[in-house]
Amino acid sequence: MSKVSALYPGSFDPPTNGHLDLIERGAKIFEELVVGILRNTEKSPMFSLAERLEMLKTLTAHLKNVRIEAFHGLMVEYAKSIDATCVLRGIRAVSDYEYELQMALMNRKLEPTLETVFMMPADKYSYVSSRLVREVAQIGGPVKGLVPEVVEQKLREKLEPAYKFHDEMQAVTARASGGKETKRKKKT
Ligand code: PNS
Repeated sequence: MSKVSALYPGSFDPPTNGHLDLIERGAKIFEELVVGILRNTEKSPMFSLAERLEMLKTLTAHLKNVRIEAFHGLMVEYAKSIDATCVLRGIRAVSDYEYELQMALMNRKLEPTLETVFMMPADKYSYVSSRLVREVAQIGGPVKGLVPEVVEQKLREKLEPAYKFHDEMQAVTARASGGKETKRKKKT
């Protein structure tokens, strides 16, 4: 059988543990896996393309058959230009299925020779999405365990005021509830 190269396209804004899990699974079954980051001009991403490239290169440095690249325009045309014969996409829950099916069938219409392969990330990441990670982090909430440590660090740097405010609020709440506890204890 000839070498199978796959493209794993996405926004990766930011890369999550679910993405990394899927990349590691994909790297085991495809001879070559290209992670293609969409250079999306419509959406304004939280992380620049350069930042996403750097994070994903760091996170996949241990996977010798994985390459990180950026693309723009039609995904099927980019896949063809890099000789990928498969597109890898992750399905976390039934809710992903409808959108992924629509996209896979549209891509098949555009390029019938390109196959879409779906894989499931580990169930512990089944609720993790870049959108929710951004939402939690923008309020300074904890994202430990949802994203790799380098991404967590980048989020903290980028959203420092939000994290500072959140941490201060937590400290105030803890002090306030500590006070109540003491008073309550004294009464009894
Ligand atoms: O991580 P995402 O945002 O779910 O990835 C979506 C992505 C990048 C795979 C999709 O939007 C895409 O392929 N965009 C490129 C433009 C394109 O080919 N559109 C037709 C899709 S049917």
